[in-house]
Amino acid sequence: MGSAGFIGVFDSGVGGISVLKSLAAELPHERFCYFGDSANAPYGDRDAQDVLALSRNIVTRQLDEGAKAIVIACNTATSAAAAALRDEYPDLPIIGVEPALKPAVLAFPRGRILVMATATTLALDKFHRLEERWASQAEVVPIACVGLVDLIEKGDLSSPEIHALVEHYVGRYRGTVDGVVLGCTHYPFVKQVIRDVLGDVALFDGGLGTARQLRTVLTARGLLADDDAPGGVTFSSSKDTAEELALYQWFYQQQA
Ligand code: DGL
Repeated sequence: MGSAGFIGVFDSGVGGISVLKSLAAELPHERFCYFGDSANAPYGDRDAQDVLALSRNIVTRQLDEGAKAIVIACNTATSAAAAALRDEYPDLPIIGVEPALKPAVLAFPRGRILVMATATTLALDKFHRLEERWASQAEVVPIACVGLVDLIEKGDLSSPEIHALVEHYVGRYRGTVDGVVLGCTHYPFVKQVIRDVLGDVALFDGGLGTARQLRTVLTARGLLADDDAPGGVTFSSSKDTAEELALYQWFYQQQA
């Protein structure tokens, strides 16, 4: 494949676009093909085997289409599928995301850190190991935000429903929190709502870390695009309508 292939990026829907923005900013000469599985969103209420099967289909297709590397821009799919897919495709660089608990704890030792994520991410071993690693250095409070992804997928990011749901899950911590880990790639799109509910707290997401990791892996494997390559981003979705693709483009223009 060499340096000429594209980078396949996927998520259950629009959330991974928050990661894609960091990827494209960090690596402007790469071609990114983003796939959102909006027809099957949310992944975060599905069991791990189901998420693995959906992820496998996407990776197989992106590889057939010419991907030189894959970014799983989804915490849930990374937890459920990254290890198995790396075993199945040992030569394919597969970069995942994980809740940015480490930088949050290092920023606020002995502080209180909320981890907002999907129910499946928080239920799987990958998160349990991460929590175990850091929980002695800070108070870690995992919060499964069931329903939030469904509302974000609709694209009305300042809706009263989103505000009410964020209030429901984290409002009780107002004034008592140091940092919030956005452990689902959809949540950076509602940073402002989270700040409206919790006040001026530090928010941590994995976008930049993932982009740097991708650069490191591409460099190590000699897969970086040439400096004069034009780069770019294209979108596709399992909900294959003009409206859905316009929504993806709209999300790509939003702050995350
Ligand atoms: N954006 C994904 C994540 O980071 C998946 C959310 C979902 O589909 O439930 O977990």
